[in-house]
Amino acid sequence: MTEMLRLEGLVKRFDDLEVLKGIDLTVQKGETIVLLGASGSGKSTLLRCVNFMEVPSGGRVHLMGEPVGRDGRGAAISYSERDLVPIRARVGMVFQHFNLFPHMTVLQNVMEGPRTVLGLPRSECEARARKYLDKVGLGWKADAWPSHLSGGQQQRVAIARALAMEPEIMLFDEATSALDPELVGEVLDTIKELADEGMTLLIVTHELGFAYTVADRVLFLSAGRILEEGRPEEVLLAPREEQTQSFLRGHGRFRLPETPAQEQA
Ligand SMILES: Nc1ncnc2c1ncn2[C@@H]1O[C@H](COP(=O)(O)OP(=O)(O)OP(=O)(O)O)[C@@H](O)[C@H]1O
Ligand SMILES: [Mg+2]
Repeated sequence: MTEMLRLEGLVKRFDDLEVLKGIDLTVQKGETIVLLGASGSGKSTLLRCVNFMEVPSGGRVHLMGEPVGRDGRGAAISYSERDLVPIRARVGMVFQHFNLFPHMTVLQNVMEGPRTVLGLPRSECEARARKYLDKVGLGWKADAWPSHLSGGQQQRVAIARALAMEPEIMLFDEATSALDPELVGEVLDTIKELADEGMTLLIVTHELGFAYTVADRVLFLSAGRILEEGRPEEVLLAPREEQTQSFLRGHGRFRLPETPAQEQA
């Protein structure tokens, strides 16, 4: 097994507010982890600390076996922007709002990261961009403007854009929450394909049926701590903690693959 990500006592504070209160998590290569939790429990903050859009206030992040940040004297760990740029390139992230550049074609959007962050030659960027657009089934839209695509297609372009960096881990933060219901499936299918191909994934989603199908492990976050974790059938069908039970009740029924809708107790 190859360890891709290890969080040790990860703490994140915004002024007086402690949002993450000591998260310990190890993710192996090829694992798919789904993070659940109520609004404000710290799911987005956790993902943002993994790709260093937010700098942790305490604890340690190890990526691909290497600790991120320098050990200062005493316990202080310092992060330099120069060290974080390559880290961000190795951890891809897809958000609820796809934020494609409206003045660039689909192809240009996907080429942008490899060009500006990785500094690859133009021909290589284009080859990569076409490869990953094909992968998400949108090679035929390479020359389109983002505004001419459906929301689901735009989100698949955003996935191709993240993949074009050839990251070692992909983070998804409610990637389908802003989509019309009929467009959710195509994006979930794309994410599922990545999971099946062995990409390491950390996913925040409210699509519990999808979580059940795709996850190797489900974590339930509550007030900045992992309250419960286990296999999807444990956490989603037989949660131990009252808060997890209540969260799942709030989400009502969800569809399990190839079974009728599952009634949550
Ligand atoms: N940049 C920030 N400055 C101050 N507080 C923040 C910041 N980012 C997040 N918070 C606070 O941290 C807490 C956790 O936020 P976070 O976005 O991680 O929750 P979440 O679990 O992703 O919620 P949701 O399901 O609504 O997306 C919230 O109380 C939020 O207001
Ligand atoms: Mg969030």
